[in-house]
Amino acid sequence: MVNMTNLPNIKIEHMSSYHLDDVLEIEPIAFGKHHWSRESFNNEINNLYSCYLVICIENKTIGYIGAWQIQDEGHITTLAVHPEYRRKHIADILLYSLFKEFKAKKVKWLTLEVRISNIAAVNLYKKFHFKQLGVRKKYYQDNNEDGLILWSQDIQSKETEANFTQIYAKTFEKETV
Ligand SMILES: CC(C)(COP(=O)(O)OP(=O)(O)OC[C@H]1O[C@@H](n2cnc3c(N)ncnc32)[C@H](O)[C@@H]1OP(=O)(O)O)[C@@H](O)C(=O)NCCC(=O)NCCS
Repeated sequence: MVNMTNLPNIKIEHMSSYHLDDVLEIEPIAFGKHHWSRESFNNEINNLYSCYLVICIENKTIGYIGAWQIQDEGHITTLAVHPEYRRKHIADILLYSLFKEFKAKKVKWLTLEVRISNIAAVNLYKKFHFKQLGVRKKYYQDNNEDGLILWSQDIQSKETEANFTQIYAKTFEKETV
């Protein structure tokens, strides 16, 4: 993928055990004490039906996204960016990259749950035209917070491809003005 950010030497890779030290540094900052363990990530990256991507700058992992393929659905399980690199469109790049990977695997829909209070994540998914199709009441056990259930449009459609690509390109046009 072309590097459209102002950040140098960005690379997107499939997550492997090589990335996990950096991932585990970001995890507690991003998700607090109920964060995933090394074992959880190892299970995920060895699962044939999952897709975990990382974004690295000069061999340092600064963000990641993961999802499971369940038939024609892609269930997004995690997304996090190192706090020092937030608001630089790293999550935009990760989500767009996951969309491309799953489109190639013939997935039709992307879905996830997100905390109702997570304005940054909700805005990100709304930017890519995800719709709220339900609420899981008290889904998050640490504080009984509701989870919004978000779904993408059909990612195999030409319209969604055009939408995603346009949103992505516009984001980086803004950056370079
Ligand atoms: C959510 C998260 C991944 C966003 O990462 P990021 O790289 O900073 O996001 P980006 O810079 O790519 O922003 C993409 C879009 O998300 C939205 N967004 C991101 N951060 C935001 C914030 N602090 N406030 C409001 N909207 C925000 C905006 O719509 C933004 O697009 P815009 O800049 O064109 O307006 C990051 O804040 C994070 O790691 N949070 C902790 C973990 C988490 O909550 N993960 C999501 C679980 S569902």
